[in-house]
Amino acid sequence: MAIDNEVYDRIGVGWWDESNPLNLLQGSLTPARYDYFRDVLLARGYRTLDGLRALDIGSGGGFLAERFARAGCTVVGVDPSTVSLETAHRHASAAGLTIDYRRGVGEHLPVNDATFDLAYCCDVLEHVDDLDAVLAETARALAPGGLYFFDTINRTWLGKLVVIKIMQEWRWTRMFDTPVHDWSMFITPAELTAALARHGLRLGGLTGLGLRTADPRRLLDMHRARQGRLTYGEFSRRLNFGRVPYTGANYMGYAVKAAARG
Ligand SMILES: C[S@@+](CC[C@H](N)C(=O)[O-])C[C@H]1O[C@@H](n2cnc3c(N)ncnc32)[C@H](O)[C@@H]1O
Repeated sequence: MAIDNEVYDRIGVGWWDESNPLNLLQGSLTPARYDYFRDVLLARGYRTLDGLRALDIGSGGGFLAERFARAGCTVVGVDPSTVSLETAHRHASAAGLTIDYRRGVGEHLPVNDATFDLAYCCDVLEHVDDLDAVLAETARALAPGGLYFFDTINRTWLGKLVVIKIMQEWRWTRMFDTPVHDWSMFITPAELTAALARHGLRLGGLTGLGLRTADPRRLLDMHRARQGRLTYGEFSRRLNFGRVPYTGANYMGYAVKAAARG
């Protein structure tokens, strides 16, 4: 089944609107993955993010771009959705943040070689036509020793149940009336590790990204959000997302581009 990446143009004006399903990423995945990425940076000796050059591949509404910009990074965001880019730009400007948003795809990044200290691609790898081309371009954009952060969805029965059945197909709970994901495009950690290595990106760490507390009331919340009785923003905060030991659904990690030989 072809996935509908046009949805980011159709409803991308509302990324920051709590009643928009795209806003689900704001209160759930975004704080969890940003905390993890920041902890990796600290553990690897970055005492501050100030002045780091960051590339956001598939920047959407700019949820992560704004976090990195607020931390002092110089951020370039790339996305194929014009509406999303405009929304992200408008929101950043209103918040007094300068973020350089550019139209493009991960397979052909509109950036120069070796110009970023870090790059990240979050909830995007399972949307792209050519994973290897995206990773090759990412490696090209990173400076030697640069860090690559990602999160994506595992191709397991759990990934299918949660992301395809519950979020996309079951009428009682689904968030979208269009296929935003295709199970066959999900990526196992082993596949991603091998693909990273093909492009000179060595896996540094991997962890699950999911619910820290399993509470069946969240299914009811999803139904209420579907009916417009609870905003997706509020629903996303209730999910209590974070680092978890299981990688069976969403997972995140980082890789390092080999330093140049002196
Ligand atoms: C689920 S959203 C994630 C947005 C953002 N990264 C976040 O996590 O908040 C997926 C994004 O990937 C973008 N996208 C789709 N295909 C892409 C590609 N080939 N290269 C880069 N971005 C792409 C979409 O336009 C959309 O903004």
